Amino acid sequence: MSVGERIAVVGAGLVGSSWAIVFARAGCEVAMFDAAPGAAERAVGTIAQRLDDLVAAGLLHDAADVLARIRVEATLAGALAGAGYVQESVLERTAVKRAVFAEIDAALVPDAIVGSSSSGIPASEFTGHVACRARCLVAHPVNPPYLIPVVELVPAPWTAPETVRRTRALMERVGQAPVEMTREAEGFILNRLQGVLLMEAWRLVEEGLASVADVDRTVSEGLGLRWSFMGPFETIDLNAPGGVADYAARLGPLYQRIAASRTEHRVWDAALIAKVEQQRRALLAEGDLVARSAWRDRRLMALARHRRDAAGQEPE
Ligand SMILES: NC(=O)c1ccc[n+]([C@@H]2O[C@H](COP(=O)([O-])OP(=O)(O)OC[C@H]3O[C@@H](n4cnc5c(N)ncnc54)[C@H](O)[C@@H]3O)[C@@H](O)[C@H]2O)c1
Repeated sequence: MSVGERIAVVGAGLVGSSWAIVFARAGCEVAMFDAAPGAAERAVGTIAQRLDDLVAAGLLHDAADVLARIRVEATLAGALAGAGYVQESVLERTAVKRAVFAEIDAALVPDAIVGSSSSGIPASEFTGHVACRARCLVAHPVNPPYLIPVVELVPAPWTAPETVRRTRALMERVGQAPVEMTREAEGFILNRLQGVLLMEAWRLVEEGLASVADVDRTVSEGLGLRWSFMGPFETIDLNAPGGVADYAARLGPLYQRIAASRTEHRVWDAALIAKVEQQRRALLAEGDLVARSAWRDRRLMALARHRRDAAGQEPE
């Protein structure tokens, strides 16, 4: 794939450096800027390591070719010069994002779009004061976006529909999987779904109905296997002979009864957190968290390769 567009990445931390890989891998020229001295240069080192990992996993042919399309700029204005799309990836703090959007506004080329990696702060809280606000939106990735393609596009009330349409098209061109919300809602789609599952997971352990290990196993050896290639609606559509309406007729009352029994809002209090923590640490010592995270990333790469092979695609 060679998209050949010019992209600026503002904030070169964990997420910004991963975004640089997404765009450069697709053939874009990427300029990175970070306000902390030396941070963008350090990010290039991290990116080089990740590209080597992708080559080793059979997910990329030429790391040097991708790396050559990523450059560090010493100023925000330098990074934004000529960029048609800006991916803001600075700290998750409203004041920091408000300030950086004012700086971006002053240096943005006409018609360029600014997508924010914001995990939870809606764009209406940090873009209302800038002239380019119709061209701003949230474009929330899942970490790391070069292995997990979904991107949540969430417009502020003043975001132009054209901005969402163009961002969606760009994300498709660079190989991501954009999804859209029609308006802002805290947690967007992904964390709202994850939140519902987590609430019940904590509750099952709190009530002593199941162990932490068995709740996790129910997902890793059960629900999650389908979820790696289809969503909850398609899942239930295939789980009754007559499709989703048939499923709703058969099992709807069960889910309604469960929901009716869970109306009380419960906080994850200190005792419950200690209970889950104790069970998790018995399964994985604190000192092994980093190694297990590396294992997770290797599993994600193997899954990405399987998905690519299943789709009959060649490596970039
Ligand atoms: N970490 C995740 O799993 C994850 C996932 C999805 C989205 N996000 C979101 O992505 C954004 C970045 O998160 P992260 O985890 O990469 O954080 P991070 O701390 O790793 O990186 C943030 C970077 O922004 C830089 N920065 C701060 N102010 C700046 C400014 N004014 N101009 C330029 N650079 C500036 C910092 O120096 C730092 O290098 C946040 O909004 C976060 O919520 C994070």
